[in-house]
Amino acid sequence: MRLKGTVAFVTGGAGSIGRAIALLLAKKGISVAIADLNENASCNVADEAQRLGGVALGVGVDVTRKADVAEAVYQVKERLGNIDILVNCAGIYSHSFVVEMGEEEWDAVVNVNLKGTFLTCQAVIPNMQRMKFGKIVNISSGHGFKGGKKAAHYSASKAGVVVFTKSLALELAPYKINVNCVAPGITDTEMPRRVMSEEEISTRARTNPMGRIGAPDDIADAVLFLISEESRYITGQTIYVNGGDLMPS
Ligand SMILES: NC(=O)c1ccc[n+]([C@@H]2O[C@H](COP(=O)([O-])OP(=O)(O)OC[C@H]3O[C@@H](n4cnc5c(N)ncnc54)[C@H](O)[C@@H]3O)[C@@H](O)[C@H]2O)c1
Repeated sequence: MRLKGTVAFVTGGAGSIGRAIALLLAKKGISVAIADLNENASCNVADEAQRLGGVALGVGVDVTRKADVAEAVYQVKERLGNIDILVNCAGIYSHSFVVEMGEEEWDAVVNVNLKGTFLTCQAVIPNMQRMKFGKIVNISSGHGFKGGKKAAHYSASKAGVVVFTKSLALELAPYKINVNCVAPGITDTEMPRRVMSEEEISTRARTNPMGRIGAPDDIADAVLFLISEESRYITGQTIYVNGGDLMPS
């Protein structure tokens, strides 16, 4: 599948990693819909993509609401064309011990990270099935593999994304639709900074086998590989982008 002229829908596209993905895709000639809860920020990223010479559209969406997702997908189809590529990057994180975690906190995290991924996939798949091609990349996390203290809800949701991806890959392989995950380790965005001190982040960088934490562009490059022709026979897989952080030492 040639990337130029295809259409991508990037959820969480106004966030740090989503923005890096959206801008990289736009640079590759892909028309990009930046879909985020924060509509203004989505439009700002779309403006940036256009300044780079790309075709882009900012749309507001709450990925936890089926009707919202359907409306956003419809808008994108009307204005940019059929969606060939879906990147599920919308995500939220919070820090609580299980014994102290409110039911609402659990629901909020699982709903955005896991249910949101399900709803956006469900909205774009029928058209991909008709076209007999498509690329879906879901953003999981290292937490979905190794878990995390005060992050049981987040870790469970991100592990769910991995198994959801494998299951969906099996269902969609006959339609030549690839479904894969990218699982970032700690990446230099506001998300870890909301719960970690600068000192903790520096320690993570120092102890990482590659001597630094991830950058949003590291994640975007892995996404690009998974939507490219070069990964045509790869489906149901997770690429861990973490500088070797998960390897046993
Ligand atoms: N930064 C890290 O260290 C790290 C590590 C592993 C995985 N991740 C994952 O990468 C993704 C992007 O994270 P980031 O660091 O760029 O965070 P971020 O907070 O900058 O971006 C997340 C984006 O998701 C959007 N969003 C939240 N709820 C939404 C909803 N209901 N509907 C639509 N959009 C919604 C937010 O508005 C925000 O723009 C997330 O899925 C996150 O879990 C991040």
